Amino acid sequence: MAGDYFVKDIALAEFGRKELDIAETEMPGLMALRAEYGDSKPLNGARITGSLHMTIQTAVLIETLVALGADVRWASCNIFSTQDHAAAVIAKAGVPVFAVKGQTLEEHWDYLDKSFMFPEGANMILDDGGDATLYILLGARAEAGEDLGVPTSEEEEAIHVQIKKRMEASPGWFTKTREAIQGVSEETTTGVHRLYELVKQGQLPFPAINVNDSVTKSKFDNKYGCKESLVDGIRRATDTMMAGKVAVVCGYGDVGKGSAASLRGAGARVKVTEVDPICALQAAMDGFEVVVLEDVVNSADIFITTTGNKDVIRIEHMREMKDMAIVGNIGHFDNEIQVANLKNHKWTNIKEQVDMIEMPSGSRLILLSEGRLLNLGNATGHPSFVMSASFTNQVLAQIELWTKGDEYNNDVYILPKHLDEKVARLHLDRIGVKLSTLSNEQASYIGVSAEGPFKPEHYRY
Ligand code: NAI
Repeated sequence: MAGDYFVKDIALAEFGRKELDIAETEMPGLMALRAEYGDSKPLNGARITGSLHMTIQTAVLIETLVALGADVRWASCNIFSTQDHAAAVIAKAGVPVFAVKGQTLEEHWDYLDKSFMFPEGANMILDDGGDATLYILLGARAEAGEDLGVPTSEEEEAIHVQIKKRMEASPGWFTKTREAIQGVSEETTTGVHRLYELVKQGQLPFPAINVNDSVTKSKFDNKYGCKESLVDGIRRATDTMMAGKVAVVCGYGDVGKGSAASLRGAGARVKVTEVDPICALQAAMDGFEVVVLEDVVNSADIFITTTGNKDVIRIEHMREMKDMAIVGNIGHFDNEIQVANLKNHKWTNIKEQVDMIEMPSGSRLILLSEGRLLNLGNATGHPSFVMSASFTNQVLAQIELWTKGDEYNNDVYILPKHLDEKVARLHLDRIGVKLSTLSNEQASYIGVSAEGPFKPEHYRY
């Protein structure tokens, strides 16, 4: 464990490298960026703190950032999502990484803190869910004398403790770091919500790129990624027969669409809950029964939350569920399910990230990953190919913010459409897609350039 890293077992690096080599063959976007920018090294001078699930795919992202000139330090953004062999191979390659599958909440914030500890300080953040950004901004507010209040959850308590520790160890550090950060690129819906909220309050201190809302991210990773990884997680956790079971998917946004398709593909009879009439109508017209949770809570077998909202499956729902119902979440944070309210029940651990909980009625629930995102907790997250599209956007966002940061205000931006199309284009060959071309006459007839962009900004895909 010596060295500037903290991983479960550095000996896992050899296995990690084999899987990383395979992943590279499935990540054409990232490999194309290495070929395009490997010589010019546009990220020279960038010191990037990454807070994103430390998986094999992320290892390919990290090595791409390094190939483009960046100094990188890394932590995982979830306590269960690290693949220990991926962390090991990155540590072995000389990139400081602090991530262990099954780390505690206290370790989570401690590792994130360590990922900021460049000798000259971090100047960029690559975030997933917003924890790295939150850490710096909350710490700076505390340094300015603000009372952070009484924590309302274990999560909040853990971040407050870590902020206090850092303030004692290095007074003024948060404020200095906040000032040094040139920009943040954010991976997911939940983190993006936090950023827009900061802008609304006039509290975003640097420019941000919303990677999630590149079309080649949310319409692919959130949808097709979950289509593969949701059922993968449920199967690895439970080995349950999915065909014929009744599954309820709460939320029919991008993740919900992929999740419902995933369960349907496995033969489950899928029902959907929604609050948004547009998404409810989409679900119905995709052939799913749209219901309210209360009406199906005592008859369904599998419950999956995908909303990014809180308190979606509540204790009163779980009390009504039938014996051995499976409950899991694929949204970013664990508060979609009221797990805290189950704490005083009898828990039996079945295996890592799978618990059986006895309700007062005597019926039992199978809870996956303690309510944290189960596709990364119980399985290995999305396949490399779709993560290549997401991470190609991440790298382009980092280059944009690092090389042209002063052209941006302290606001949230989306990458321009020509780059979105470029990301898609880089993934066509790998799966044998042949693209048609527009004649100049056709292009002018539909009002676009023959080389793209092929759609107006308001087009929704
Ligand atoms: P989205 O905004 O497209 O979809 C969420 C949907 O949930 C919306 O349609 C909304 O109307 C609905 N909803 C909100 N409250 C609800 C309630 N109480 N009951 C029923 N429906 C409700 O967001 P997206 O992109 O689908 O992301 C959802 C979550 O998944 C976010 O937390 C995001 O960060 C996370 N995510 C997780 C991934 C993973 O691999 N596990 C991958 C990508 C995103």
